Amino acid sequence: MKRIAVLTSGGDSSGMNAAIRAVVRTAVYHGAEVFGIERGYSGLIAGQIRPMGARSVSGIINRGGTILRTARCAEFLQPEGRAKAAAQLKEHGIEGLVVIGGDGSYRGAMLLHKEHGVRCIGVPGTIDNDIGGTDFTIGYDTALNVAMDAIDRIRDTADSHDRLFFIEVMGRRSGYLAMMSGIAGGAEEILIPESPTDLGKLIESLRSGRGAGKASSIVIVAEGDEFGNAYEIAKRVGEQSEFTDSRCVVIGHLQRGGSPTAFDRVLASRLGLLAVEALLDGETGKMAALVSSTPVLRPLSEAWETRNQFDPSLLRVAHILAV
Ligand code: F6P
Repeated sequence: MKRIAVLTSGGDSSGMNAAIRAVVRTAVYHGAEVFGIERGYSGLIAGQIRPMGARSVSGIINRGGTILRTARCAEFLQPEGRAKAAAQLKEHGIEGLVVIGGDGSYRGAMLLHKEHGVRCIGVPGTIDNDIGGTDFTIGYDTALNVAMDAIDRIRDTADSHDRLFFIEVMGRRSGYLAMMSGIAGGAEEILIPESPTDLGKLIESLRSGRGAGKASSIVIVAEGDEFGNAYEIAKRVGEQSEFTDSRCVVIGHLQRGGSPTAFDRVLASRLGLLAVEALLDGETGKMAALVSSTPVLRPLSEAWETRNQFDPSLLRVAHILAV
């Protein structure tokens, strides 16, 4: 295989550029031609494909976002959309594709392989760290550090005013990012979809914290919490208790941007390299994953058939350390 391409798909995450750099330079190292596809599967269908070389990825290892842009593409979900995408690849003589993104992007890649024989390797990129088959996804560590920094800053003002804050953290249906942010930021309570939220218990815990001399309280709310978002929960707490003057902060897309941490840069570099070498070795339907600190190939389907969950013992850690 002498011609491969790379695209980023779904929500961007910090470190995707480092992964693109690794893909391009590994291909160059092995003498393969490499193309960049813009705006994920949308750009592929539209033929937004350009040649890349070692110099076209200079100075991007430290940049957030993705120089290739990204998109969520409804047309690619239809067989006709995938046929157009396959035709574009054929026209450019591209035999293999590296897809940097989450599980939704991998399902598309798998179908592209099954229906049109295009070889595909996935590289996990999402801040949610919820993809099965890999211990970490590119962008998670950066997002975690952004959330932790936000919590630290809010703690300063919360302490100064003896206030209760509700801080909403991204993660879609997963509480992984919220859980780790809460522990790293020393939050009093962490509300996540993986464990049911009990308003009475939350109020009791906030009261007992105040009784134990805590000046401020921080409650982390995962955006996917089954009880509601940070504003709804703050409102309900205010209606049912003396905590009527709380404040809410939604960190949101701030977590997706910014310069990637060293961890994400190294992860992206290792997985991008593995993905290209796997493609050149004739592999397909695999994901370049990190398992027990080692880059390995895993079946792409693991990404959506299983979910990466945080160790449940962390619930206990969070609870005990919040006394
Ligand atoms: O999957 C990554 C993520 O940032 C989630 O944490 C969040 O729910 C979602 O994407 C937001 O998507 P969008 O940028 O399309 O609003």
